[in-house]
Amino acid sequence: MPFYSDTLGLPDTAFTLLRDLIHDRTGLFYENGKRELLADKLSPLVVERGFDSFLDYYYFLKYDSDATTEWGHVMDALSVQETYFWREVDQIHALVDVIVPEHFATQPKEPLRIWSAACASGEEPLSIAMALNEAGWLRRAPIEIYGSDASPSAIAKARRGIYRERSFRNLPPTLRLKYFTKEQEGWRIAPELQARVQWNTVNLLAEAEVIRFASSKVIFCRNVFIYFSPDSIRRVVKLLSKHMPSPGYLFVGASESLLRVTTDFELREIGGAFVYVKSDAQANSMVTTARPKLKVSNLA
Ligand SMILES: C[S@@+](CC[C@H](N)C(=O)[O-])C[C@H]1O[C@@H](n2cnc3c(N)ncnc32)[C@H](O)[C@@H]1O
Repeated sequence: MPFYSDTLGLPDTAFTLLRDLIHDRTGLFYENGKRELLADKLSPLVVERGFDSFLDYYYFLKYDSDATTEWGHVMDALSVQETYFWREVDQIHALVDVIVPEHFATQPKEPLRIWSAACASGEEPLSIAMALNEAGWLRRAPIEIYGSDASPSAIAKARRGIYRERSFRNLPPTLRLKYFTKEQEGWRIAPELQARVQWNTVNLLAEAEVIRFASSKVIFCRNVFIYFSPDSIRRVVKLLSKHMPSPGYLFVGASESLLRVTTDFELREIGGAFVYVKSDAQANSMVTTARPKLKVSNLA
């Protein structure tokens, strides 16, 4: 594989300008030691667009009126789309066994909106849909599930709905057989389940894009903050907290913590999993009424 950056070169000034622009627009932060990595990821785009230098590409991204589409390509190039079905599934069980029943016990007619906010190729919202279906919720209650990512190519994969072996490393085999059909290129998700998720391209740093989804009562924003600077995490969490209802439930990845980032959410243990709750008295009472966790064998 060619290292375009060898020929193109990413000098200090261009690196700093490009790095800061990318940080500001996407939240992704490349520290000084990651200069070559950034250069390698972006070089094909610089060359394909016919620019002679990263600096010209920077000016294009920053000032050109056609740059909106190009930002999608930048996201595709920088995006780390590692994900799989049934990942960190305790949180999904907490949603299905505690948060959903509590919501419909108190507001039976009020649709519950769940947003998977950096879903890569879609395994996370589809896992949520599977778990809700297994527990019978999709049949009997108004639940809306949204899956989004800033990378258009990730969302194109999600819309296609065909998954390879790596996506199944944690999914119980009975669920794979129940919800997927083997095809030449991989396993296709059942159309009825696929139809329960609405797919969109959304950049978490763009308030105009986020606003439509951030009023969701439940937000899964997992394993994306690990790529962000503390400042970007703060910006996103502030945006979410501004638009989420109370109580609102924000799930982040197991290795991510918001404790130093926000006081708008409280870390709670619900149904055996950790979740950040946009506080109010109702949310507090729910914790004490947490029901026992549903076992995977009960879902299959
Ligand atoms: C490692 S995946 C996480 C997938 C899934 N949430 C999970 O936990 O398995 C990280 C995703 O974050 C997306 N991402 C990075 N920056 C983003 C941003 N500013 N807005 C929305 N998504 C972003 C990437 O495109 C990538 O698909």
